[in-house]
Amino acid sequence: MKKKVAIGLLGSTLDKGFGNKRWERWRPSVSVCQQPDLLINRFELLYQSRSEKIMQVLVDDIQQISPQTQIIPQAMQFENPWDFEEVYEKLYQFAITYPFKPEEEDYLFHITTGTHVAQICFFLLTESHHFPGRLLQTSPAKDICGTYTIIDLDLSCYDRIAARFRQELKNDISFLKSGIDTANPQFNLLIEQIEKVALKTTEPILLTGPTGAGKSLLANRIYQLKKQKQLLEGNFIEVNCATLKGDQAMSSLFGHKKGAFTGAVSERPGLLRSAHQGILFLDEIGELKLDEQAMLLRAIEEKRFMPLGSDSDVSSDFQLICGTNRDLGKKVQRGEFREDLFARINLWHFDLPGLKERPQDIEPNIRYELKKYEEKTGIHLSFNQEAWQDFLNFALSPQAFWKANFRDLNAAVTRMGTLANGGRITKTDVAEEKKRLLLSWQEKSDQHGLKLLQQILPEDEIVQLDLFDQLTLEQILQVCVHYSSLSKAGRKLFSISRSRKKSINDADRLKKYLEKYGITWDDILLLKGVAGTHIF
Ligand SMILES: Nc1ncnc2c1ncn2[C@@H]1O[C@H](COP(=O)(O)OP(=O)(O)O)[C@@H](O)[C@H]1O
Ligand SMILES: [Mg+2]
Repeated sequence: MKKKVAIGLLGSTLDKGFGNKRWERWRPSVSVCQQPDLLINRFELLYQSRSEKIMQVLVDDIQQISPQTQIIPQAMQFENPWDFEEVYEKLYQFAITYPFKPEEEDYLFHITTGTHVAQICFFLLTESHHFPGRLLQTSPAKDICGTYTIIDLDLSCYDRIAARFRQELKNDISFLKSGIDTANPQFNLLIEQIEKVALKTTEPILLTGPTGAGKSLLANRIYQLKKQKQLLEGNFIEVNCATLKGDQAMSSLFGHKKGAFTGAVSERPGLLRSAHQGILFLDEIGELKLDEQAMLLRAIEEKRFMPLGSDSDVSSDFQLICGTNRDLGKKVQRGEFREDLFARINLWHFDLPGLKERPQDIEPNIRYELKKYEEKTGIHLSFNQEAWQDFLNFALSPQAFWKANFRDLNAAVTRMGTLANGGRITKTDVAEEKKRLLLSWQEKSDQHGLKLLQQILPEDEIVQLDLFDQLTLEQILQVCVHYSSLSKAGRKLFSISRSRKKSINDADRLKKYLEKYGITWDDILLLKGVAGTHIF
C-alpha cells in the first residue's frame, strides 16, 4: 500500500476555529483526516504566517483525531491571494521543488480551501501533472465529518472533455479548409495557425498569395467561423479595392453626408460603417490610393473616421482582413503604399501557397470540385478510370502551371462536366481539356514576347503596366542579362547621354529605373542562368 499524502492550503475562514465550539463546525482540513475509509499518512499544510494561530489549533486538533497523520506545516507567503500570477507562480515553485515520489506515495491535492484563485491553480497544476496526483474535494454533510470526493483528471470522463475540445479544434480547421482533406504540411500548418488567430484576435489579418489561391474564400470562412462561435455580430463586407475608382472610392469606403458633392443626394453610410461589429475584407488592398490609405489607418487605429462632407467623426469597430497578390513590401519601397499602414495590417500575415506548391492536395481538390459540380447542377459527375489517371498525371506534371490556381481547377472541372455525356468524363474529354488549359496558360505568357519580364514579375503585376512600359522593360532586361554588373549594363544603356554628363552615374540611373518596377540587380542575376546568354 502506498502512503497517502494530502497537500492543501489552510483555509483562513473555513478552517478557523477557537474554543470548544470549534468542534461543532465543519472544518475542511480537519475533515480530510476524519474520513473513516481514508487514512492520511502525511498532510502537507500550506499556510500564510498571518494564519499562524489557526494553524496551531488545527495541528493539535488533527493530531488528536488522527494520531497516525503526520502534519507538516509549510509556510507560503502570498502578497495577494487573489492575484492569479502570484499564486500560480508560488504554487508552481512548490510543485517543481517538492520531492514527489509517486511510486511510493499517493498524492491528494485538497481543493476545498484557499481562494478560488488558488483552487484554479491547484486544478491547473494537477491537470498538467506538475502535481502528480488526484484532486481531493471535501464537503459538509449532516455528519460533522462531512464527505469527500477524489477526482482523477486522468480518468476517461475528464479525458472525454479534453477529447471534445480536440474534436472541436479539428472541426474548426476542417471548416476553414471547406471540408477538403488536404495533406500539404505547409498548408495545414498555416490553417491551424489561422484557426488560432481567427478565434483569439480582432487585429487585422493579411492574406497574400497568387490569384485563385483562396484568399477571398478563406476570409469568408474566417468570418463564418467567428460568427458560429458568437465572436461577432455584424456582417461580412467585401470590397475589391481595384474597383474603387476616383472620388467614389472615398465615399464608398467612408460614406458621405447629403450634399457633400454634386450627386450626393442622400447620405451614405459607407462600407466601413456597414462592417461595424463584423469583418471588412479589403481585397487587393495594394490598389488603394494613398489618401484612402491614410483614412483607413486612422479608422483601424482609432476606430474613428470622417465621412465626406461631414464635420465630425463617426465610429465603427470592425476586424480588418486584407487580401493581395502583390508584394506590398515592394509597393512601400516605391512609395505607393504607406509604410505605417503596411506595418499595421501586417501583424498577422498568412501567405497562401499556389496549387502547384501543393501537389498532395490536387487530388482531394479535384474530388471536391466534382462534388461542388454535383451540388450545383444535380448531375453526378465522375471520371472513368483511364480518364482519371490521365487528368491526375497531367495535373501533377510540370506542364501544368495552374496559373489561376483553384480558379483553373474549378473551370476545368466545370468545362469537362458540361461537355461530358451522362456525367461521365472520358479520356477524350480530358485530352480536350488539357489543350484548353495549356492554351490559356500559354496565351498569357506569350503575349508580346515578354520572355524575361514574365520571369521577373508576376503576371498580375505585368498587366498593371502600360504596354509601353512592358515593352521597354523587356528590352532593357534583354540588355541587362548580357552584363555582369549594374555599371556595365548602365554604361551600355546610357552610352550617349553619359558623355554629356559631368558626373557619371549610369549604375544609379539604371538601378532607380528598375526600382520603379520593384526589380533589383539580384533578380536579374537569377535571370541570367535562364537566359543562357553571353556575358560581358
Ligand atoms: N482551398 C480551396 N480548395 C478548393 N477550392 C478553393 C479553395 N480556395 C478557393 N477555392 C475556390 O477557388 C476560387 C478562387 O478562390 P478565391 O478565394 O476567390 O481566390 P483569391 O481570392 O485568392 O483570388 C473560388 O471559386 C473558390 O471557391
Ligand atoms: Mg479574391
